[in-house]
Amino acid sequence: MHYLSHPAAIRDADVSVPGDKSVSHRAIMLGSIAEGVTEVHGFLAGEDCLATMSAFRSLGVTIERPAATQLVIHGVGLHGLQAPDADLDLGNSGTAMRLMAGVLAGQNFAATLTGDESLTGRPMQRIITPLSRMGADIGSRDGRPPLVIRGNPDLEGIDYALPMASAQVKSAILLAGLYARGRTTVAEPAVTRDHTERMLRAMGVAVDTTDSRIGVLGPATLQASRVDVPADLSSAAFVILAALLADEAEILIRDVGVNPTRTGVVDILQAMGASISLENARDMGEEPVADIRVRSSTLRGIDVDPALVSLAIDEFPVLFVAAAVADGSTRFTGIGELRVKESDRIAAMAAGLRALGIRVEESDDGALVHGGRFSGGQVQSFGDHRIAMSLAVAGTVADGPVTVRDVTAVETSFPGFETCLKQIGADIVCRQDAPA
Ligand code: S3P
Repeated sequence: MHYLSHPAAIRDADVSVPGDKSVSHRAIMLGSIAEGVTEVHGFLAGEDCLATMSAFRSLGVTIERPAATQLVIHGVGLHGLQAPDADLDLGNSGTAMRLMAGVLAGQNFAATLTGDESLTGRPMQRIITPLSRMGADIGSRDGRPPLVIRGNPDLEGIDYALPMASAQVKSAILLAGLYARGRTTVAEPAVTRDHTERMLRAMGVAVDTTDSRIGVLGPATLQASRVDVPADLSSAAFVILAALLADEAEILIRDVGVNPTRTGVVDILQAMGASISLENARDMGEEPVADIRVRSSTLRGIDVDPALVSLAIDEFPVLFVAAAVADGSTRFTGIGELRVKESDRIAAMAAGLRALGIRVEESDDGALVHGGRFSGGQVQSFGDHRIAMSLAVAGTVADGPVTVRDVTAVETSFPGFETCLKQIGADIVCRQDAPA
């Protein structure tokens, strides 16, 4: 499948985007090991979260789905999961694999976690090291999946300083910490998304954050609690970008999660001159939400503050596109983690932007993007959902049509992307590839 994105007049609109991926994964995982029934509303029905749902069903959890975005999870309690009959296939999802490894580390059975070509190439030593120190036995292929997790019901709590800013690794350790004897604490080199901590608290677990360490005391019992999932700011980012690049449009995106550990993209775009305001701020359960109003803006190149990187980690493909149309140059530094996402996102965006006539200089952990105009052309997504959507949005302001190859992965995080973008006037169609 490929996208064909034609230059289009983006217009005023009031839209919604699907539920938050990180919160949806956690709702399934924590709901499954809680006592009682967890209802989830606004669940992201994307392939990544559906893979987590199937995996927990294979571990013996009854999960009903009365509507596409609604789940009823019959929690089995901390010790109620059962050995699966087969390997658990987590598709494209790093979050599913790393967080589930934390849960499985404390079981009295073994399970194998595997995934697609992208996921099986991603680094897992970052969770193997701390979980092994807690007492789990994890086999891998040189630190990459498949992971064979031989759980240990006698895990011990550890104090661990994360070598990289990663909410997935932090969460894996905290989830294993629920099963462990004694206290488990994690120190992070930079603040990362805290959805796990918030949902654990909502389910009655005391999560302390003293001396900038995040700690849980095991064994801990979780009480089921309703989860309302906010719209995903990481998906809203594509709509925000399309609105900013347009000639003249004002777009409102409703009920978007604006957890301060996620809003780096708004801060960075505002520093580039973007008109973005958060309105009607309120809480949705444990998570802050707001309506986001965006007006077309002239962007200017900046040096992106490295302190904001972990707060905008999934939005760099979008930010590269913003940089490509800004006046002047934009320097990104400290973004080396992008090289181990669903694709090498620095290389993928550099290739995509260059194919559309933009000058990009790449370094190991950064890039310098020189603002210009997009020509039309053909680009690759490298099978990465966020690269595919970012380059499709670039097509809305290009001088000719942009074809984005290999876009099926968009289903992992933003089902309905083309329909949503159509509502704001974009002309992005998904086509079957012509037979070779
Ligand atoms: C996620 C954490 C981030 C992010 C991913 C979702 C999560 O990964 O890139 O899309 O839900 O915890 P890292 O924590 O590895 O940076």
